[in-house]
Amino acid sequence: MLLRAVLAAAAALVAAVAAQEARCGRQAGNIACANSQCCSYLGATNGFAATSLVGQALTAVDPRCGRQGGGAVCPKGLCCSSLGGASGGGSNARCGPQGGNASCGNGLCCSFLGFCGQTEVHCGLQCQLLFGRCGLGPLPPPAPVGSFPTPDPAKAARYITGCNKGGVFALTFDDGPSVNIGLILDILKRNNIKATFFINGKNRGDLNVAKDKANLKRAFDEGHQIGSHTLSHIDISTTNETLLFPQMKVNDDLIKAVIGKRPVYMRPPFGSVNQRALTALGTWGYKVIGWNLDSKDFEHIGKPDFIQLGEDNYQADLLRISAVLPKTSLMTLQHDYVPEDSQAGGWVQHVIDKFKNLGYKFVTAGECLGDSPANWYRD
Ligand SMILES: *[C@@H]1O[C@H](CO)[C@@H](O)[C@H](O)[C@H]1NC(C)=O
Ligand SMILES: *[C@@H]1O[C@H](CO)[C@@H](O)[C@H](O)[C@H]1NC(C)=O
Repeated sequence: MLLRAVLAAAAALVAAVAAQEARCGRQAGNIACANSQCCSYLGATNGFAATSLVGQALTAVDPRCGRQGGGAVCPKGLCCSSLGGASGGGSNARCGPQGGNASCGNGLCCSFLGFCGQTEVHCGLQCQLLFGRCGLGPLPPPAPVGSFPTPDPAKAARYITGCNKGGVFALTFDDGPSVNIGLILDILKRNNIKATFFINGKNRGDLNVAKDKANLKRAFDEGHQIGSHTLSHIDISTTNETLLFPQMKVNDDLIKAVIGKRPVYMRPPFGSVNQRALTALGTWGYKVIGWNLDSKDFEHIGKPDFIQLGEDNYQADLLRISAVLPKTSLMTLQHDYVPEDSQAGGWVQHVIDKFKNLGYKFVTAGECLGDSPANWYRD
């Protein structure tokens, strides 16, 4: 009798949770969440207030498993958590708020679910920087409080996802300089178009390496705007000022060594941002740039129908923002490392042709915001 009551209570609880959490993303046929809700990495709408936008990116990197993942077995060496997310990376150690605020040792990352490990699940989106490493490389040393301007809520940055003037199209490329940047620069040059590159000093490329420095220099010299994407592609919504400041400063130093100045524009990796980060970044003089149009190019690498898949995502975004073509200005997201040579010009050439024909003018992020080039950089 007691067991039955417990089971009934548990079933009611599950039903209550299910009722509040509509499904979304990969796990639900790629549907978006209603009412500006975010799509969590478990494919449910919920109130992760700290992470805005791009729930989809989460679902792309997190392998599902077990009962919740259609019976799938985790990739090599990973454990299947009770929530059906692959975790562990060979380690079952707990960390973060879920693990008594413990930090991961040995250069491991603390995942969003509070497991130590070193897979993209642990080190990527929602990696908890307060409790371990995040991103690909080692982190710069923390900057003690007092060594950077104290964040001032009155100076908080706004998270900008669109432009100020109509009829313009800003192509932006994240995560470079990668091995693919030369191809993108060739395409842009052929079409006489200026774009924006949000650069990581240490991610796909390494700004201590001559080849990557030369590619960044070429992008700048050919008239493209250069912005920052943090040093090592961390989720800045899980960090604090002590750890965020060196991510910005060291990246700026590496960029300045190549182009002679520091970028003012920055894009949060994964489009993940919270008020604390906006306050710090605004106080430190950054403009924080998102996007309103995303083909999710990185999910389509190597697929034969990658143009159609990109188009499908564009259609969904254009509907979401109620775009009126060619009036609504568009700030797009592409990734530097997505190969563009699989067909003549690939996705980027397709977008240029299509939106040029519709009457769009291609601009940098700065032009899109009507911001004078003098404000795009500082010494
Ligand atoms: C972990 O840290 C948070 C924030 O500082 C605190 O509220 C919480 O009580 C801590 N938990 C434990 C188990 O120490
Ligand atoms: C940020 O987190 C680190 C690591 O947990 C800690 O040492 C530092 O004191 C924190 N800084 C602030 C401003 O809270």
